[in-house]
Amino acid sequence: KLKEVSVRLKKDLIRGLGKHSHHRAAVKMLPTFVRATPDGTEKGDYLALDLGGTNFRVLYVRVVEEQQKVVKMDSKICSIPQEMMLGTGEQLFDHIAQCLGEFLESQDLKGQTLPLGFTFSFPCEQKEIDKSILIRWTKGFSCSGVEGQDVVKLLKEAIHRRGDYDIGSVAMVNDTVGTMMSCGYRDQSCEIGMIIGTGTNACYMEEIKNVKRVEGEDGRMCINTEWGGFGDDGSLKDILTEFDEVVDQTSINPGVHTFEKMISGMYLGEIVRLLLVKMAEDKLLFKGETSEALLTPGQFETKYISEIEDGLENAQKILTALGLNWDPVDACVVRLVCDTISSRSARLCAAALATISNRIRVNRGLDHLKTTVGVDGTVYRKHPNFSEELQAAVRLLAPKCDITFLVSEDGSGKGAAMVTAVAQRIALQSRLTQTQDSAG
Ligand code: GLC
Repeated sequence: KLKEVSVRLKKDLIRGLGKHSHHRAAVKMLPTFVRATPDGTEKGDYLALDLGGTNFRVLYVRVVEEQQKVVKMDSKICSIPQEMMLGTGEQLFDHIAQCLGEFLESQDLKGQTLPLGFTFSFPCEQKEIDKSILIRWTKGFSCSGVEGQDVVKLLKEAIHRRGDYDIGSVAMVNDTVGTMMSCGYRDQSCEIGMIIGTGTNACYMEEIKNVKRVEGEDGRMCINTEWGGFGDDGSLKDILTEFDEVVDQTSINPGVHTFEKMISGMYLGEIVRLLLVKMAEDKLLFKGETSEALLTPGQFETKYISEIEDGLENAQKILTALGLNWDPVDACVVRLVCDTISSRSARLCAAALATISNRIRVNRGLDHLKTTVGVDGTVYRKHPNFSEELQAAVRLLAPKCDITFLVSEDGSGKGAAMVTAVAQRIALQSRLTQTQDSAG
């Protein structure tokens, strides 16, 4: 079944890349205008913003050439209240500008205009590295007046409304791209970035000649696949369960990001909760009784899955805290339910990753591909055996690919600075070539 899923995704990748098929494609395959991974000569000071994961963050980072390292000088976390996630875009961007302003003030950086990498982890149609139109919100966000707008413009407008500081050039980055780029500084064969956290997604280096919506024949460009949208055209109907359908219907964006809803941290806890309720109703658990907490959406947090799979004592504590009347067999069954749901997630991700690595292999006419994937996200990092399970399934599904998994160190923060640094290096190199051409 996973092989079938992988074949379906393979077709969807091609559809997303096509000039005419793109607008109907469930998997958007968005060009990122990132044309190169780091070569190790990048350097400088940068600001980075990170919106779209667990928290909103502002960072000040230094790329140090001699050590091929991105050093975080300082950072600040600002919470985004739930009302703001569902409020107006203007409020959201004013909040971001305020948070950045306070940070610059505290670092004594207000007088400088530093280049800024903005990790904005939502599907965007990028026109240039500094022009990026939000296609639609995903994960818990739904601010009005932002879909269809250029996010860089909204950020700059909010900063100008304040008028007390300014920023230099901006590079827009998806978190998958930041993750790939931050790992790419350490390991230059890193050409895939993958996130399994609040949401799930991946990017990879595609041959430009296959990206029909971007001009050019030579070289590569990083493509943000937005694989979370896989299945939005009904292609995964046969593997969706009644629990997946309920999760989708009760989400703030029904019908959108079907694959993501089977996999990522924002939804896994809820899938388990719905299963436990059904099993209790069918008298297979808790002597047929439920509890108020178990009946409340969102009360079974995704982190409980990791905790329960980590040990039966944890399972017992959590079930007690949820007000359930459990016996030792119930605790084992609940653990099995958690394992089933997290394994399904890991294996579906593996099928998708296998599709991408095979695509890179075939693109390059290779029998065997050796490559590195930069990975980040709470589900991948925190679950006790998610990463092993995913890696084992990829080995089965992509036997001709030898994949090294590298957990990124703050890809969303440092990676954004790296993208900005690479963009500056390339701009400088092309200016130099132009000068040499005109001189010679
Ligand atoms: C969602 C977003 C995507 C992001 C992913 C991981 O799927 O649409 O852009 O990369 O979450 O954060």
